[in-house]
Amino acid sequence: MSEAEALNQQLIDKLTDAGMLTDRWRPAFLAMPRHRFVPDLIWADTDDGGLTTRRREDDPAAWLETAYADEPIVTQVDDGATPDTGRGRLVTSSISKPSIVARMLAYLQVEPGMRVLEIGTGTGWNAALLAHTAGEQNVTTIEVDPVIADRARKTLAEAGITPTVVTGDGADGHAPGAPYDRIIATAAVQHIPYAWVEQTRPGGLILTPWGTAYDNGALVRLTVDEYGTAHGLFIDNTVAFMWLRAQRTPRPQPPTDLTGAAESSTTLHPDAVAWDDLDASFAVGLRLPEVARRFIDADDGTDDFTFWAFAGQSWACVQVAEGTTAHRVLQYGPRRLWEEIEAAYRWWKKVGQPSTLQFGLAVHPDRQYVYLDSPDNPV
Ligand SMILES: C[S@@+](CC[C@H](N)C(=O)[O-])C[C@H]1O[C@@H](n2cnc3c(N)ncnc32)[C@H](O)[C@@H]1O
Repeated sequence: MSEAEALNQQLIDKLTDAGMLTDRWRPAFLAMPRHRFVPDLIWADTDDGGLTTRRREDDPAAWLETAYADEPIVTQVDDGATPDTGRGRLVTSSISKPSIVARMLAYLQVEPGMRVLEIGTGTGWNAALLAHTAGEQNVTTIEVDPVIADRARKTLAEAGITPTVVTGDGADGHAPGAPYDRIIATAAVQHIPYAWVEQTRPGGLILTPWGTAYDNGALVRLTVDEYGTAHGLFIDNTVAFMWLRAQRTPRPQPPTDLTGAAESSTTLHPDAVAWDDLDASFAVGLRLPEVARRFIDADDGTDDFTFWAFAGQSWACVQVAEGTTAHRVLQYGPRRLWEEIEAAYRWWKKVGQPSTLQFGLAVHPDRQYVYLDSPDNPV
């Protein structure tokens, strides 16, 4: 057994033992080993929050180990605009974390012979797994970036499996191959493109990462009905996918000039609304979907930090000093964003602190909304 085969077997055993890799998908993981899809040049985090390249030829053993770690691997930054010698800022393509790939495939409930559309080809690994199980002639995958799409086509051919790779905007789906039994997105959305509903047969499933500017970590699984609508529950809240290109959220920088802000204080710790509890963070995001937020650590060696929230011209910050219970709040602009966040958090407490899995999403041709427990109870 080669080193790569041994590492793949270890990964498969680990995911199987954890209950994430099912009998349905184990043969695909065995036949389509991950390292065959990982590019020779990958990107890794630097200490100061950027990304720099790692080359397979510089340390083949480390590259192989990375390929079989249960971690995502960044394969493109800044839409390909940053040279290999530069420092990347924004992750724009990656090969997903194996345990998340396995869980999503299980959620998708694919049977051999089903027609499947994947949005976000990336390296082609997930498309290869789908094609191995559903049949290569039944799988279509769409990638918006032509360089990435071309590489995936080549990698898939080398791996001996040839699903259809379309270069284009996955938000449009791929009508020539419709209707699909399953659509899976591997990039996150805030709004479900209605083309996905139109191109799924009644009874078919759409699985996609879903988020808000405030919180991006959920997966929703929708069933399409014969009336052209789709609805279903959120089924996970532990994933973190990059956005579909047209649905990226801004990442505002904190202002350098704090003059003019209204000052107050709060005893609600920002961790409660955005860190400690994934369900709380998800729920606050539902009430304030357009509010972006960031934590910024103090650079003085203490555990002090500032929580920032931004929306349009408005911003708010909460300055948290180690060991204190009352925190200074600054709010600026037409909205009082921290007060809105506190109110959203109070709402979530008042309705019984529901889990993310109690919420669902309804998609109609002209509107989509999140509901709690039942579609007739919109949030
Ligand atoms: C997390 S990666 C996908 C991982 C991939 N499934 C794999 O197995 O390697 C997300 C991909 O979605 C692509 N993407 C982003 N927006 C897209 C869009 N509108 N249409 C199609 N692909 C898109 C990105 O370029 C990126 O390659």
